[in-house]
Amino acid sequence: MTPADNCDNQDNSNTSHGEQQSSSSPSPPSTSPNSLGKLYGLGIGPGDPELLTLKAHRILTSVPVIAYPTMENGKVLARAIVADFIRPEQLEIPMPLPFSVTRSSQPYYDLAANKIAEHLSAGRDVAVLCEGEPMLYGSFMYLFQRLAQRFPTEVVPGISSTLASAAMLGAPITFRNDVLSIMPATLDAGTLRDRLAVADAAVIIKLGRHFDKVRTILSELGLLERSLYIERATQPNQRIIAISELDPAEVPYWALILIPSQTQPT
Ligand SMILES: C[S@@+](CC[C@H](N)C(=O)[O-])C[C@H]1O[C@@H](n2cnc3c(N)ncnc32)[C@H](O)[C@@H]1O
Repeated sequence: MTPADNCDNQDNSNTSHGEQQSSSSPSPPSTSPNSLGKLYGLGIGPGDPELLTLKAHRILTSVPVIAYPTMENGKVLARAIVADFIRPEQLEIPMPLPFSVTRSSQPYYDLAANKIAEHLSAGRDVAVLCEGEPMLYGSFMYLFQRLAQRFPTEVVPGISSTLASAAMLGAPITFRNDVLSIMPATLDAGTLRDRLAVADAAVIIKLGRHFDKVRTILSELGLLERSLYIERATQPNQRIIAISELDPAEVPYWALILIPSQTQPT
């Protein structure tokens, strides 16, 4: 897996937010001045703000500090999903992550973890926004590994894009004893082919520039007819299109292929 592929980087949002706080007050309120703040990993779902859980909404609107990944050009997806719920007095910590195959994202997570730790040490709760489900290929996991041993931590599950896509596509994924495989398109061709050859049902994520490789493998395995493509699921610019009609150059990072089970209920 390349550095650019192992994090929740974004490449498609039209919104941007600079590296500064949106707060009008310089120092945000402390929620627990005499003790450590709590770290929240907030799953915020695949894009439709109505798919936020009640719990995520409650925490999002009550914490003094919110952190979220950004691309180096300032584009942000996670913040855009919940933008309507963020209050001006909440402090924001954008966490720049590289979208590059040549640079490791780990030093960036070190920096972000250090910034977040300062607030937690001062007794301020921090919610880290994570698109989809935080513990499934989520950028939050890298902060969790760095901070959860030192600070009280709670992870709030979110609706994963992998499952929301099945709903958007109207495609039941698994029946009875079917096994679902979720795999990144960043795997090498041989591994992808081996995994797909034995999968009852599969979701292939992180498509982007790996789409052509995936399409070739699906064709070789006779899976193309069963495969469904969706990009930006549940977002206003969601697109569902036949794989045969796709221009590989246009496939974004925020896209996946779903291969539903063939099991026929009897
Ligand atoms: C690093 S993974 C993060 C997965 C996320 N934690 C989740 O549970 O949905 C990023 C990949 O998830 C898929 N993805 C995330 N959101 C998506 C969406 N709204 N529509 C389609 N695919 C999405 C894309 O394949 C993308 O490359």
